[in-house]
Amino acid sequence: MLLSLAASRRVLFLGGKGGVGKTTVASAVALAQARAGRRVLLVSTDPAHNLGHLWQRRIGPARVRVAANLDALELDPEATVRAHLDEVGAALRQLMPPHLAGEVDRHLALSRDAPGMHEAALLERIAELVEEGLRDGDLLVFDTAPSGHTARLMALPEMMSAWTEGLLRRQERSERFGAALRNLGADDGVAERALGGGSAGNPRDRDQRIRQVLHRRRHRFEHLRGVLADGALAAFVIVLAAERLPVLETIELHAQLQRAGVQVGGLVVNKRSPADAGEFLAGRHAQEEAHLQHLNRALPELPVQQLPLLPGDVVGAEALEAFAGRL
Ligand SMILES: Nc1ncnc2c1ncn2[C@@H]1O[C@H](COP(=O)(O)OP(=O)(O)OP(=O)(O)O)[C@@H](O)[C@H]1O
Ligand SMILES: [Mg+2]
Repeated sequence: MLLSLAASRRVLFLGGKGGVGKTTVASAVALAQARAGRRVLLVSTDPAHNLGHLWQRRIGPARVRVAANLDALELDPEATVRAHLDEVGAALRQLMPPHLAGEVDRHLALSRDAPGMHEAALLERIAELVEEGLRDGDLLVFDTAPSGHTARLMALPEMMSAWTEGLLRRQERSERFGAALRNLGADDGVAERALGGGSAGNPRDRDQRIRQVLHRRRHRFEHLRGVLADGALAAFVIVLAAERLPVLETIELHAQLQRAGVQVGGLVVNKRSPADAGEFLAGRHAQEEAHLQHLNRALPELPVQQLPLLPGDVVGAEALEAFAGRL
């Protein structure tokens, strides 16, 4: 299921509870698709990155080649927030009269640690990578952070679009007002002062610049929302263990994603205990079956792939290659 899902999509997100195997499964599916000849980019959005540990090499915010056809990167939340705030700051400074520049700086300094700021910045970077990835590559695989974080992230394009929309409308109103003043015969300086200042230069040029910045951001979020909602282009895969809490959280995460307009393409039940390796594990296997029945009753329409519990950890390219062979 996972391989055919990945093969028929351009963007794949893997999410789920902590420690269930998101990074391992994301890496394995990315590797399998790269082996099949697609150009793949594997991206970790989890601030507590472990792509590097798994691949046993340094992976940072710039893409590095980890196998033929396969690049990987780990988003750096701090750098992403900085870049995001710099851009927002530049846009705000253009919108606000110069004597309020100090206000803008204070606002931005506070925003750095505001709740949601990391997520917003991360989302913008994801949106950017999706745009680039669809243009320059064949498949993007996102290894995401544990459940709650991811669901909030997925609901953000909607919120961010609304925010940008509000700014654009304000901007359009002030532009209309400026145009009206100019039509009344006021020179640009008068129109500029009536608008409360703004940065130096022709107000029409300034308006044009602000418009470009805001339109680019809005377009980026709209594009991401469109991709996430397009089941033929993107799929979200929930990884879980066949245990009580992961099953309950999976049902909840599925509902949250649906509310956010994100298509869930399937479920991966990882670390299934064997039924034929002694009484203890057979007992666990039977218990897991009961949990999976509950899962199936709650989400009967979703395809499920099961992966066995392995005797050892999956570490390094060779182990990943073997794990990919089981998909
Ligand atoms: N099928 C498996 N059999 C045995 N061990 C596994 C299996 N899948 C993953 N593991 C091991 O489980 C641990 C957690 O896996 P992984 O890091 O992929 O989970 P994760 O969901 O990304 O965790 P986190 O939420 O912390 O990011 C790792 O040590 C990994 O090697
Ligand atoms: Mg992980």
